[in-house]
Amino acid sequence: MTIRIPWENPLFDKTELTLLQQVFEKNTGDTTLDSFESALGEFIGNPRVVTVNNGTLALLVALMLIDIGPTNKVIAPTYTFASVVNPILMLGATPILVDSHPDSINLDLDAVEFALERNPEVKAILHVDVGGVPPDYDRLLDIAERYGVTVIEDAAEALGSEYKGGRVGALPHIVTLSFQTAKQLTCFEGGAILLPNDLMYEKCRLLRHHGMSAQYEHTAFGLNFRLSAVNAAIGLAQMKRLEEFLQHRNKIMDIYRSYLGGVLKFQSPPINVTRMSWGMAIVQASCREERDNTIAALSKAGIQTRINWKPVHQQPYHSKFLTGNFPIADHVFDTSFTLPLNNGMTLDDAVFVAKQAVSANT
Ligand SMILES: Cc1ncc(COP(=O)(O)O)c(C=O)c1O
Repeated sequence: MTIRIPWENPLFDKTELTLLQQVFEKNTGDTTLDSFESALGEFIGNPRVVTVNNGTLALLVALMLIDIGPTNKVIAPTYTFASVVNPILMLGATPILVDSHPDSINLDLDAVEFALERNPEVKAILHVDVGGVPPDYDRLLDIAERYGVTVIEDAAEALGSEYKGGRVGALPHIVTLSFQTAKQLTCFEGGAILLPNDLMYEKCRLLRHHGMSAQYEHTAFGLNFRLSAVNAAIGLAQMKRLEEFLQHRNKIMDIYRSYLGGVLKFQSPPINVTRMSWGMAIVQASCREERDNTIAALSKAGIQTRINWKPVHQQPYHSKFLTGNFPIADHVFDTSFTLPLNNGMTLDDAVFVAKQAVSANT
């Protein structure tokens, strides 16, 4: 098949090249990294930003910051990318998998409470903002407070989403981001951690850089989780167009919803989400056969789609030791797929995708 509309298609212009050239010619590495972090902090409304190599390591660092270790359990969704549970496993802790809510496809908060009742060793809830949809923070943070657990929010797909007017990353818990190529903003590879207070921020900066508080003075444990200047230059250039990217992606989602709202099911964000930044266009058909037929028809028209994450409890590796009954996650996996949603496609592309999907379903 000739690909007419790719699933992943980041958009770059001359700014990336100009900033990269400065890194090479003027050795502006450190200032570029600082500028990228400042620009991100300003956009989010939280200056405590620590960039790292990628979103997976951002999660590992977040878990290390709250001292997750072998005696701890961490609640995580089963309907997610393996990179969410692998950092928990890396630290010797036990993931407690929880099912999804059928409307948001985020963690089902009733099931989270049920899991907390049965697992007093839980130290943290790792919430993944699926497709960019933030959690119902009021309820999630209330649960966390009542059970004395910490919230870590994986907002890899949610940069720019807002809850009650505040941006994801500006609330009093740890938030992680990814800048992989499918995201709203990309550095090719990159990630960041948003910290809720200065103490955590300093701890995180030390952890990222060998625990060094001065040259070869190691006052804490640390490794090298630093983002390279080359990646930071790309990220800084992308920041200049971020708002434009977010609006463009929302227009694409509006087109998809207006054509397909009656045919396919879209995620429903919680009521207090005041702005969505869509990381993925996840749509659900009424059954697996209908989903597969739609994918086949779109593929014939040159439109790339993806079947999103196979749930963790179904993965060949993880299913050997992470088991359970997760009917919603299974159903979402069986019936959903993702349409192209990227900065590089045009609104005409979106209309073409939507029309092809409509005709596949009539
Ligand atoms: C929800 C989620 N978490 C974690 C990651 C991992 O990020 P990275 O690929 O930057 O390691 C991704 C994306 O790739 C993701 O979508």
